[in-house]
Amino acid sequence: MENAEQQKKVIFSAIQPSGSITLGNYLGALRNWVSLQDEYRCIFALADLHTITVRQEPAKFRKNTLEAYALLLACGIDPEKSPFFIQSHVSAHAELGWILDCYTQFGELSRMTQFKDKSAKHADNVNAGLFTYPSLMAADILLYQADLVPVGVDQKQHLELARNIADRFNGLYSPTFTVPDPYIPKTGAKIMSLQDPTKKMSKSDENINGCVYVLDTPDDIMRKFRRAVTDSQACVRYEEGKDGVNNLMGIYSCVTGKDFASIEAEFQGKGYGDFKTAVGEAVIQHLQPVQERFRQYIADKAYLEKCYREGAEKAEAIARRTLSKVMRKIGFVPRG
Ligand code: TRP
Repeated sequence: MENAEQQKKVIFSAIQPSGSITLGNYLGALRNWVSLQDEYRCIFALADLHTITVRQEPAKFRKNTLEAYALLLACGIDPEKSPFFIQSHVSAHAELGWILDCYTQFGELSRMTQFKDKSAKHADNVNAGLFTYPSLMAADILLYQADLVPVGVDQKQHLELARNIADRFNGLYSPTFTVPDPYIPKTGAKIMSLQDPTKKMSKSDENINGCVYVLDTPDDIMRKFRRAVTDSQACVRYEEGKDGVNNLMGIYSCVTGKDFASIEAEFQGKGYGDFKTAVGEAVIQHLQPVQERFRQYIADKAYLEKCYREGAEKAEAIARRTLSKVMRKIGFVPRG
């Protein structure tokens, strides 16, 4: 048993607790994390150190972090199976982050498209953390000797950099880090904005109706789906160019388990109004138990605290081992 556990591949992933979790985060990433927990040794984190690269209001930041923690439990992250912790609770992240800064080139960081995008967006606060964000992310992954990292396309370049940093360090000293591969889910769902279905569903959508949150009320969810952008064909069919309908079909398929052919059959001869209402209802129904569990967890601060404290303890034990190894190889004098 112990051995079988050791042989499982290690998966590490993290999400930032910035604002509310969207339906896109949930269907595209979190639901996937939940399903990986038996087959792999999973370690999950809330990347709160990354969040302060953009200025946060303290009370709101604290609230967002606790809510994100409770919501991930509600989605099905099982802290008994998968250590689930808050990044800032394990100081090895910041420590290895600094070390890896010294093994990452200015030129490499300058090429990161997310840095270019974010520094354009937050032109008044282009801080050094925003620039070195990818080496901290590399530290997150490498501390746990992760074999696989589930990431969306927007994080692919950062993962590639983490691989390069690991290779470089291993080459300069001796094998120290597992070089992580991206994990491409079997059933990938990329959920697009309901208002502009050529763009990813995102909390930064200018139009509030474009983005559904996991904790939205049923009324809000229904309103957003009823206003979803479609096309003028009035025909529920998955087809190139029908971005709005394709996205709604993808969401409907995700929450009901139905394939596209049966969805097309179900709505044959019906208009978009019926279809959008059905998608809204299916999403509301799917999220209802998640919302219910969230309300229980968020009301039980003692339980939440127990979970994240134990998560940090388990994560720390693994992270410290890697960090000590790294420091020894570099030539730091051990404290003794
Ligand atoms: N940067 C990731 C994001 O915003 C979050 C993240 C931080 C992460 N550290 C990570 C993802 C390590 C995967 C692995 O989505």
